[in-house]
Amino acid sequence: PTALAGRHLLKELDLTEDEFRGLVELAAELKAAKKAGAETQHLRGRNIALIFEKTSTRTRCAFEVAAADQGASTTYLDPSGSQIGHKESVKDTARVLGRMYDAIEYRGDSQQKVEELAAHAGVPVYNGLTDDWHPTQMLADVLTMTEHCAKPLTEVAFAYLGDARFNMGNSYLVTGALLGMDVRLVAPKEYWPAEEVVDRARALAVGSGARITLTETVDDGVRGADFVATDVWVSMGEPKEVWAERIAALAPYAVTMDVLRATGNPDVKFLHCLPAFHDLGTKVGQEIHAAHDLEYLEVSDEVFESAHSVVFDEAENRMHTIKAVLVATLA
Ligand code: CP
Ligand code: NVA
Repeated sequence: PTALAGRHLLKELDLTEDEFRGLVELAAELKAAKKAGAETQHLRGRNIALIFEKTSTRTRCAFEVAAADQGASTTYLDPSGSQIGHKESVKDTARVLGRMYDAIEYRGDSQQKVEELAAHAGVPVYNGLTDDWHPTQMLADVLTMTEHCAKPLTEVAFAYLGDARFNMGNSYLVTGALLGMDVRLVAPKEYWPAEEVVDRARALAVGSGARITLTETVDDGVRGADFVATDVWVSMGEPKEVWAERIAALAPYAVTMDVLRATGNPDVKFLHCLPAFHDLGTKVGQEIHAAHDLEYLEVSDEVFESAHSVVFDEAENRMHTIKAVLVATLA
């Protein structure tokens, strides 16, 4: 058994620096084994429940493919297809699923729900995204960084632009702090993470040697960065009405070629957890385009489609890193 056997993954703060790095290394090994056609199955006969109270493409598919590759089975419970939250409490759901499954993934709104599930399930619970944290995404992002930058992580600088108060901003901040990186959050002050999250990150940085910058100025924030990252300006669960205020506040923080040039790094890479509004070729995108006459939102199509963009490696790495979490906690 590994050091993570039987453990939950509810937020990055649950892991030590060594545990986080260990998961990324295991993911790289599992990825190489799969590519070589030499994967060993460690999870035969295991059953994993996947609860999604919000929609998903990457996270759901990553869990399903990772489990199948490793010989485990999954049950997908969609946003309306179970009793959870409607007819049955989280606590009761946890105790039922814990009797049938070896592990449970949960995506929903409140962090408190996934914590409650973990408290009562008796089996490992994984956070597949809440309003506060997106830990499996961070494992994929760090694996992607190690693949695209030869420097040790403690010398890597990344800048996140956009709404930094939500899951992605919080997760980038504490992950960079945990791993001793140079992490910059670039956003208007009102969009910075809650003070307690910043305090936790600063405390971690004392031990890890991380450098933490919160700034409203794009040029200062991105200078010298190895990676520039962003996320949607309106997250799942937020009302459509907030688009206007988000666009007004965050338009100067859209990732364009000018932003990449401002890093001064010709090899800078672009990250996005996806889905992205880069060409507005979606229904929501078209509505926003009609209302605001924009061609893109958080990232320009030019950046998204450029050689700087490593977003599809990042998306693929969701699967390899989630597989590492399953193997480390269940094998
Ligand atoms: N990045 C991510 O979590 O994507 P999904 O919402 O498609 O799972
Ligand atoms: N911040 C986004 C991330 C999607 C993967 C959301 O919560 O919708």
